[in-house]
Amino acid sequence: MMMVSNLSLSLLLLLPLAGSAFELSLHLTTKGAEELDSTFWAIATPSSDRYAKFLEVEELAAMIGSDQSCIDAASAFLKQSGGENLVVSPLKDSITATFLHGHSLLLSDAGHPKSTPDCVKFTVRKDHYHEGVYPRPRASASASAPYTISKIKNAYGMPTDLTAINPATSVMTWGPGTFGYSVAELEHLKLTQAPKINLDKVVFDNENHGEPGGDNFGEGQLDVNMLSAFALNATVIVSNTNTSSSTEESTGFGAALLDFLTELAGRETVPHVLSMSLGSLSAASCDLLCDAAIEEGYSQKDCDDYLAKQRQVCMFLTQDQTDKISMALQVLGTRGVTVLAASGDGGSHFSFQAFESDGGIGDVLNEASCANSIPVFPTASPYVLSIGGEMWRNGNSDHPITWSYLGSSGSGGGFSIQFDQPEHQKDVVAEYLKKDGMPPADSYNAGSRAYPDMAAVGVSGTSQSCPISAGMFAMIIDQRLNAGLPGLGFVAPRLYEVATKFPGEAFQDIVGGDSSTTCDTGFPATDGWDANTGFGRPIWDGWAKHFGEDN
Ligand SMILES: *[C@@H]1O[C@H](CO)[C@@H](O)[C@H](O)[C@H]1NC(C)=O
Ligand SMILES: *[C@@H]1O[C@H](CO)[C@@H](O)[C@H](O)[C@H]1NC(C)=O
Repeated sequence: MMMVSNLSLSLLLLLPLAGSAFELSLHLTTKGAEELDSTFWAIATPSSDRYAKFLEVEELAAMIGSDQSCIDAASAFLKQSGGENLVVSPLKDSITATFLHGHSLLLSDAGHPKSTPDCVKFTVRKDHYHEGVYPRPRASASASAPYTISKIKNAYGMPTDLTAINPATSVMTWGPGTFGYSVAELEHLKLTQAPKINLDKVVFDNENHGEPGGDNFGEGQLDVNMLSAFALNATVIVSNTNTSSSTEESTGFGAALLDFLTELAGRETVPHVLSMSLGSLSAASCDLLCDAAIEEGYSQKDCDDYLAKQRQVCMFLTQDQTDKISMALQVLGTRGVTVLAASGDGGSHFSFQAFESDGGIGDVLNEASCANSIPVFPTASPYVLSIGGEMWRNGNSDHPITWSYLGSSGSGGGFSIQFDQPEHQKDVVAEYLKKDGMPPADSYNAGSRAYPDMAAVGVSGTSQSCPISAGMFAMIIDQRLNAGLPGLGFVAPRLYEVATKFPGEAFQDIVGGDSSTTCDTGFPATDGWDANTGFGRPIWDGWAKHFGEDN
């Protein structure tokens, strides 16, 4: 995917469509990026005197919010263009207006879009949602033998009937488009596997409840099933922000994720845990793939067009968009939210699986994919906890190995292209890279963010392991709240400290398998931390001791 300049991005989004109502958000130039970064890490680092001293929205708005002059200029632009109901975000980083009568006024007399003020970094347009025709979900949303809810809890030593008792404990899951769940399916899970699920505590975040049969609906069901079964009696908030007709596929997804995260980051009340199972290759990964196709004689447009037709493969637009998502994730961490993201289902090289072999661009992209570590976003962000997948050899829970599916899909892992390696990872990653069986050194950036951080059962994909882990963190946070402690916020620095200081107490190492899928090379699951299953799977007692209490 080519980097789009601010101007051409605005052109793209302001092209005339039918005259129905829509919203436009102008994302403004913010300040204080360095202060936010140092605050984020200080609040997440147990040895810091600022540890877990989470901030309020107003404090963050003062730190990062846009200058008044920019807010004024952007407001004037929106009003001049016919925008109504202007709302400045609580973090003062964006301003949104409603356009009730289409947007012809955004066009100049000559029919060209007016350019936005200089301090507007990019715009996000929110249309009414039209359901597209998508393939059925590929993952099954129910837990089947031997991977029943109680078997998984037993494998982690988690009491099967443990319920949250604090009324405040909450965990959120999000998806755009048809993302939602069926109450009947959840009731079925309660009847057959998890009688203590409290259906009254599963609530929608807004009026969008998804659409059965849609691609993301199956995703939502899996998230809700796992969250409500692993965080019994905690509030499970299901958020669907269907901002445009293309939010399930293609770059509309990136815009929807950005819109959701920035809005959530500015809310008065935020959940304790956020579980994100959706994602796709990062914008940088897609750039790398298209560069390879261009070298083979394809045009950027050939590549973009091809990738846009592949289901949930390249869904992020630009570096600006990625930067804004990073900022929102940092704000969420400083506000005390523990954000988890699924590590992806295509091992080290794909979003889900290899492209179809077509004697053409599909083969070129497969070759480039196998020659490189192709990271997935947002899981490769250093500001989320990345969750890989495990399964059990011969169905025996005593023998955990990396999750893989028919040799074509498997637990995602590898190294980011663009994010530096955070301090807390450096020692364990260096140890790991000394081991045998690593992919060729020129196929990945050994100095960048390595993922995943840990793993849980992912036989329905890492979209299962992520909400299982998120549910377990919500239960730990319930314990903390009951003891008068705050939530955990961004938990990775603490998790790395616990896992290295007390090996075998909070995580059971997973050894066996790798992230090669259809390619020759992948990252092996080895002794200790690895770029396939992280530190391994949870051990409940160790979590309760090392994350549930502060000493
Ligand atoms: C989202 O989808 C629901 C139907 O599933 C629809 O009622 C709602 O208007 C949509 N929201 C937006 C912002 O398009
Ligand atoms: C469920 O949570 C509520 C608080 O919201 C608490 O009063 C109740 O005791 C809990 N129920 C169980 C079975 O733990």
